Amino acid sequence: MSNVTLRNDTELLRQIAGWQADYKPGERLADYASLGVGGEADLIVLRDHAALEPLAAALRERGIAWQLIGGGTNILPVDEPFTRVFLHLAPSKNDVTIEGRNVSVSAAASLGRTVTYCAKNNLGGIEGLAGVPGSVGGALRMNAGAYGTQIGAVVRSVTVFRGVSGKIEELTADRIGFQYRHSSFAPDDVMLAVRLELNERPFAEIMEDIKRCNEKRRTSQPVKEKSAGCIFKNPPGLSTGKLIDDLGLKGFREGGAVISERHANFIVNRDHATAADIFRLMDRIRDTIRKAHGIELEEEVIVWKN
Ligand code: EPU
Repeated sequence: MSNVTLRNDTELLRQIAGWQADYKPGERLADYASLGVGGEADLIVLRDHAALEPLAAALRERGIAWQLIGGGTNILPVDEPFTRVFLHLAPSKNDVTIEGRNVSVSAAASLGRTVTYCAKNNLGGIEGLAGVPGSVGGALRMNAGAYGTQIGAVVRSVTVFRGVSGKIEELTADRIGFQYRHSSFAPDDVMLAVRLELNERPFAEIMEDIKRCNEKRRTSQPVKEKSAGCIFKNPPGLSTGKLIDDLGLKGFREGGAVISERHANFIVNRDHATAADIFRLMDRIRDTIRKAHGIELEEEVIVWKN
């Protein structure tokens, strides 16, 4: 049982088709989330991003709730069917434009591919992000970071569709408020594009750093398994992974979900795990850390409930 209203709305479904969008009823969010969990939902995939404004207006008019799903690499959707509709902006071939040190990128672009495309144009400054999975938009929302780089540091402005007003705005970086794994965007804001300012650097040097970061990631994180990256944020000055590891929790399992033996702040879906399995493991980690250190862990992964 996903969105019954939309399924029966032949007029809107006809409009959706006219906007170059694909309506996909009854998809499994598990197929769109890197953790491989999540219940059934209706999806609308927009090939032409300009359709977002009229589509959002039409959904609002009908009282149909919606949410954007990006790369799906930092989310934990519950197992139950979702009544809201999910919109997805499809990436296209011409997602990146470069002018001098300024790079304009569509939010739907893959972050990793963007980093290497910039490198090929002798632009660096985001080397550490090369191996971070997901889309540019998702990286902006979370202020993704790794190996000393956070994307917020190179952002000049972001073009965003405001869910609350239904209008598109361009925000300069000083109006975004990037913090550690946090930005000030509202949950119903949809990132459309970003302008970055990078540093001129020879391709070979950039690639050396990218290789080093990727090698470090491969040896210290379970990159080949289904996960959502780190599950909890790091408390100031500490590594949650090390705290969990030191308490001997690596390898603990609930159903098909396991605390990774490679990095203890990763929960991996090893054997048809459900979201419920993952929640149970998260509770276990939280309780153990609270008892041992009096620290209340904060989730990094974004939990999607109905
Ligand atoms: N460590 C352990 N055991 C573990 C994990 C880590 O002893 O199971 C130790 C490591 O040996 C190292 C220290 O803890 O001495 C720090 O580990 P690491 O370099 O892996 O960094 P982290 O703080 O655990 C953070 C980010 C990662 C990012 C890495 C590399 C958070 C929550 N995590 O991890 O980001 O990739 O640094 O820069 O900020 C993510 O955001 O999803 C993520 C994975």
